[in-house]
Amino acid sequence: MRRSEFLYTIFPLRIIYITLCIIAILSIFANRYAMAQDDERIKRGKEAYEKYCSVCHDETGSGDGPGAVISGISPRDLTDKAYMSLISDDEIVKIIRYGEDVFPYLQMPGQGDEIPESTGWDIVYYLRTIAVDRGPLKVPSPQERAKRFKEPMERGKIYYLHYCSPCHGISGDGKGWAARGLVGKPAALNDPVLMSKLTEEDILAHVKGLAKKEGREMPIFGRAFTNDMVKAIASYVKTLSAISGK
Ligand code: HEC
Ligand code: HEC
Repeated sequence: MRRSEFLYTIFPLRIIYITLCIIAILSIFANRYAMAQDDERIKRGKEAYEKYCSVCHDETGSGDGPGAVISGISPRDLTDKAYMSLISDDEIVKIIRYGEDVFPYLQMPGQGDEIPESTGWDIVYYLRTIAVDRGPLKVPSPQERAKRFKEPMERGKIYYLHYCSPCHGISGDGKGWAARGLVGKPAALNDPVLMSKLTEEDILAHVKGLAKKEGREMPIFGRAFTNDMVKAIASYVKTLSAISGK
């Protein structure tokens, strides 16, 4: 009787003990497995980053890739922790896939279905490993940029850089990178003499192709351009000659 009583008390204890051991061993394996999965993702993310992003953001993520010259504005430094911590994982995936279509204040084309959502997440995993602490933020935050976009002049500048500067140059000197291949020379929009003859309405009409003009070389920006866009651009273009002052 005593012996069976003894067994009765010890037996469940032993089961509990064995169960705990099994759980402990399994969790070590599960952890290892999860870590290996993360490493795999980061590796895939790095490869996708090199394929899709490094041309503009540079291999290091600093934002000095060769494509930076073409976009007219410098791509963001993706290694700055202070900045990157202000953008959620979810937002990064959206930025990658839809770019300026979802975040109109961004001058970055989305890559759409070219990058599947899961690859987008791989890239996020990778990006989170390359950010380093460089102290407090030195550039406007993403939220601040979005706010500025609400100002017509700021919007005009962004549109101008995107749609006009390839030919007309960032400063408006008419010497953008795409001007080299053109027969006709893009007008110097920073020339006060020329610009004193053009009102904002003239600029709008020219952009939209409303005014008939002999030997037009410039593309017509038609339906895709809302009046708000063109007005904002025209106001900004007017400031170019004031800025250069010559
Ligand atoms: C054609 C050049 C180009 C490519 C390719 C590109 N980017 Fe960008 N990216 C930019 C530019 C330019 C900006 C800054 C936009 C601005 O100032 O409005 C930017 C900004 C960003 C931002 C910051 C957004 C914010 O709110 O400030 C993130 C994050 C980003 N890019 C991630 C990526 C990733 C990840 C890839 C690859 C899948 C990629 N980019 C590919 C040009 C590019
Ligand atoms: C593909 C190159 C190209 C792009 C992009 C381009 N332009 Fe032009 N633009 C030209 C050329 C070339 C001329 C001079 C010949 C002409 O008027 O077509 C010109 C002329 C002009 C003029 C002078 C019109 C006049 O009456 O003298 C204005 C104003 C102008 N562009 C504004 C813009 C604005 C604003 C944008 C952006 C929405 C833009 N351009 C985009 C090439 C371009």
